[in-house]
Amino acid sequence: MRVIILGPPGAGKGTQADGICELFDIPHISTGDLFRENLKNETPLGKKAKAYMDAGDLVPDELVVDLVEDRIKRDDCRKGYLLDGFPRTVQQAKALDKINAENKVSIDAALNLDVPSDILVDRLTGRRTCPTCSTSYHIQYNPPKVEGVCDKDGTKLIQRSDDVEEVVKNRVKVYETSTAPLIQYYDDLGLLFTIDGTQQPTVVAEKIKTALKSKE
Ligand code: AP5
Ligand code: MG
Ligand code: ZN
Repeated sequence: MRVIILGPPGAGKGTQADGICELFDIPHISTGDLFRENLKNETPLGKKAKAYMDAGDLVPDELVVDLVEDRIKRDDCRKGYLLDGFPRTVQQAKALDKINAENKVSIDAALNLDVPSDILVDRLTGRRTCPTCSTSYHIQYNPPKVEGVCDKDGTKLIQRSDDVEEVVKNRVKVYETSTAPLIQYYDDLGLLFTIDGTQQPTVVAEKIKTALKSKE
């Protein structure tokens, strides 16, 4: 199963990823997480991406496409993958189609988590993230069992540096201009499932499961 999860910043892509990946036994590939890992390790790629991420702008397509191509060619992607945060431009989507065509595979479904922009700022400024496993929490909507600590591995939670109001607003704007056109792109290919992302996370998960099971 090759799945793409689309949605604005804070739509719940990362929150829903684990459930989907467990269901189909596929890896979760988040380009945001991959960039943050490179940033932490101060790799050349991380250094190139930093200024864009800090501002909430997109990292240039060519840097992202190479990163994803290397990742999806790895053995653990043979049965499929969940792409979270990629593609983010029509150019990236076309590049992905080309890579898949070369490997004689194709995308099975594109999930679109629909959340209106007025909710996103609140979700992201209240988000806390585990720097070890990337799990997202929310101080109000999805708090960890022990305040400030990851349920899964006990790591102290952090606030992502791009989760401040000004940067969030730019990320939403960038989403609307560059990424929202992908909804039409995948609809035209007959791959789109739009899901109301304002419902409880467990309800969203059920709807995703039903959509993907229809593609199995
Ligand atoms: P990335 O890490 O992908 O960030 P993003 O797309 O802005 O998405 P988020 O991770 O912020 O949101 P999410 O949808 O995963 O929400 P979450 O589940 O955590 O990218 C970061 C940066 O990297 C980009 O700005 C760019 O610079 C660069 N980049 C990455 N990929 C790129 C690409 N392909 N091309 C170019 N540049 C790229 O949930 C959010 C909050 O809401 C949490 O607090 C959560 O607990 C809560 N929540 C979740 N679901 C619900 C619900 N149903 N009800 C109530 N609260 C909920
Ligand atoms: Mg995320
Ligand atoms: Zn963790």
